Amino acid sequence: MTLRFTNYLIGIIILIIAGCSQQPETVDELDSKVNDLLAQMTLEEKIGQMNLYNGFWDITGPAPQSGAAADKYQHLENGWVGAMLNIHGTENVRKIQEIAVNESRLGIPVLFGYDIIHGYKTLSPIPLAEAASWDLEAIEQSARIGAIEASAAGINWTFAPMVDISRDARWGRVMEGGGEDPYLGARIAAARVRGFQGEDLSATNTIAACAKHFAGYGFAEAGRDYNTVDIGTVTLYNEVLPPFKAAVDQGVRTLMNSFNILNGIPATGDAFLQKEILKGKWAFNGFVVSDWGSTGEMISHGYAENLAHAAQLAANAGSDMDMESYAYVKHLKNKVDSGLVDLSVIDDAVKRILRVKFELGLFDDPFLYCDPDREKEMVYHQQHQQAVLDMARKSMVLLKNENHLLPLSRGRQRVAVIGALADDNNSPLGSWRISSDDSTAVSLLEGMEPYGAEISYAKGADLITESATFLQNVQINETDKSGFREAIRVARRSDIVVMVLGEHGFQSGEGRSRTQLDLPGVQQELLEAVYEVNKNIVLVLMNGRPLAIPWAAEHIPTILEVWHLGSQSGHAIAQVLFGEYNPSGKLPMSFPRSVGQVPIGYNKYNTGRAIPQDNVFWSTYTDQLIDPLFPFGHGLSYTQFDYSDLSIEVTGSNQYEVKVSVTNSGQIAGEEVTQLYLRDVAASVARPVKELKGFQKYSLAPGESKTVVFQLTEKELGFYDGQGNFMVEPGKFQVMVGTSSVEGLSGEFTL
Ligand code: BGC
Repeated sequence: MTLRFTNYLIGIIILIIAGCSQQPETVDELDSKVNDLLAQMTLEEKIGQMNLYNGFWDITGPAPQSGAAADKYQHLENGWVGAMLNIHGTENVRKIQEIAVNESRLGIPVLFGYDIIHGYKTLSPIPLAEAASWDLEAIEQSARIGAIEASAAGINWTFAPMVDISRDARWGRVMEGGGEDPYLGARIAAARVRGFQGEDLSATNTIAACAKHFAGYGFAEAGRDYNTVDIGTVTLYNEVLPPFKAAVDQGVRTLMNSFNILNGIPATGDAFLQKEILKGKWAFNGFVVSDWGSTGEMISHGYAENLAHAAQLAANAGSDMDMESYAYVKHLKNKVDSGLVDLSVIDDAVKRILRVKFELGLFDDPFLYCDPDREKEMVYHQQHQQAVLDMARKSMVLLKNENHLLPLSRGRQRVAVIGALADDNNSPLGSWRISSDDSTAVSLLEGMEPYGAEISYAKGADLITESATFLQNVQINETDKSGFREAIRVARRSDIVVMVLGEHGFQSGEGRSRTQLDLPGVQQELLEAVYEVNKNIVLVLMNGRPLAIPWAAEHIPTILEVWHLGSQSGHAIAQVLFGEYNPSGKLPMSFPRSVGQVPIGYNKYNTGRAIPQDNVFWSTYTDQLIDPLFPFGHGLSYTQFDYSDLSIEVTGSNQYEVKVSVTNSGQIAGEEVTQLYLRDVAASVARPVKELKGFQKYSLAPGESKTVVFQLTEKELGFYDGQGNFMVEPGKFQVMVGTSSVEGLSGEFTL
């Protein structure tokens, strides 16, 4: 981190502390303010707080006279709108807020929500990439930057973090999450909530976070978005819920429910999830927002008879705010009048929503987030570019580096760069960046310029045939290979070939499930054609999900996974290629050998037939290995880390200290992520063969050693049974500590 950047961060921290200088309100004070306001509200006004509308007209134009937009405008004046989404920019936000505050009877300010998934304007890497850094401080910082820019532009609520665990790379939304593992996912969830919300929600540069999608969305059958989820409660409690619980423990102010049905009940109408677990057991006192239209979609699920019924089911199940279904605003009053929804349900929801508005400071100043000078200063702030560059460097994973093709030596090699993605300013921004501007990423070619290398570029083939948008499927080039000849010519006369292949930024994200996980279009053919003439290939993979690339893994000597790295993509990749930054990322999701292996994760259960037999009757495939191509936790460095001296000591009742010695035995400094995995060998509920229970990231100078120490307590040793009880059971535990989920030193102890 540069000194200037460090000073800037200190500045941010001081700013937050300055924002906190007023005495924080006690819970009682806040409650009494909320109750006082509630007592003044009519039933319609209360229901209005539970209503979330999408942005609705050209805000700079005159008020709409007719149609849906006019209705929304009128509803704002009536005080029937609690929150809006997709309105941003201080000018636009101020105009809406003025209607709510100045025209409505009670002048209750509106919340402004937006999907700040990996930045507002300045974009950090997609969340899956950030997860590959295993660097919680950096991830927190990245969310912080998003909050600073978004809050400067009028936003006070983000629909992030997405904390859905998934082992299914077909599902396009894996790019938004923290990967396949509940432990890593939970740590990241808490870091992101800290980053968005800071220490004080009423500071001008913090925003309310929203952990989503509650719950089970990442387990959509066959990886198809919005699809049915049917999982047992052991999976629910041990794998799906931990990141949500971590977000709640970190004080997340809102949760979003999900589109899917979970074991037959649409999540939006699921009282077990929202009332019993979230608001009951976990004592969550923020509010739950539905997903877009998910209240109404309960009709399509075959759960609600009509929109009025959907409103009743969702409200009674604890879904406090309705996003764009119009269900509450149209039907909830009748339901209360006819006794099908109790007034206490409405009051509870409204109190939760008002509380968050008070906490954000909106009642003290509804225009707190509407300072145009601050907006001008903070959006695309130069220092944010530095921060996202740092995050981008940490997010790359070196999957393979045979013959040490990387790092490139500056000026001493003729380098060919091949692939449309190398010359792309748009795709590296990734998916889910509706608030930002297209084509603002530094391309890899631009990033390589300062290194003075002798570079020849050939596109080889287009990846897409038409310009891509967030709303439509990208059109992939499946036929045009006219650029191959030039690519082959360039490759032939070069010492080394950097091939930049993968997915377009809009091939992942919501509604973008794939049945194939290969390199799309003609890219595989291009790779093989270039390989024919030059085998010194560094494959730079740019993608939003794990890919199945068995041919490349076998033939290509060096593979660097760069994901979609955001605004500073090209600079970050170039720094790794030329050895200015030593890669340190580790995979947060397993890379399968083929689609047929998916869903796949390291923390699987053993079968009764786990050991290879000399007949066919054991749990395997007849046509493929069962292990992944690149496992969870895998990632190489330009240096080498050696592990020795694993020791396990009892330090108290149900407490252990695990130590291991790690030495950087290479020639350059590097960062390592040491991972600790546990297996409870026999338990009343069968446990996975391995579960991540700790990790540490640190750097070592060449020749330097370090003793890495982990503390195991009941938290790490225990698990949930199918009823949600947390258990710690005596018996044998296996421990593995190492550099990935498959490589390390093993020991055991008996509890
Ligand atoms: C997504 C949510 C998102 C919402 C608002 C929905 O389609 O599932 O994750 O927050 O839209 O944009």
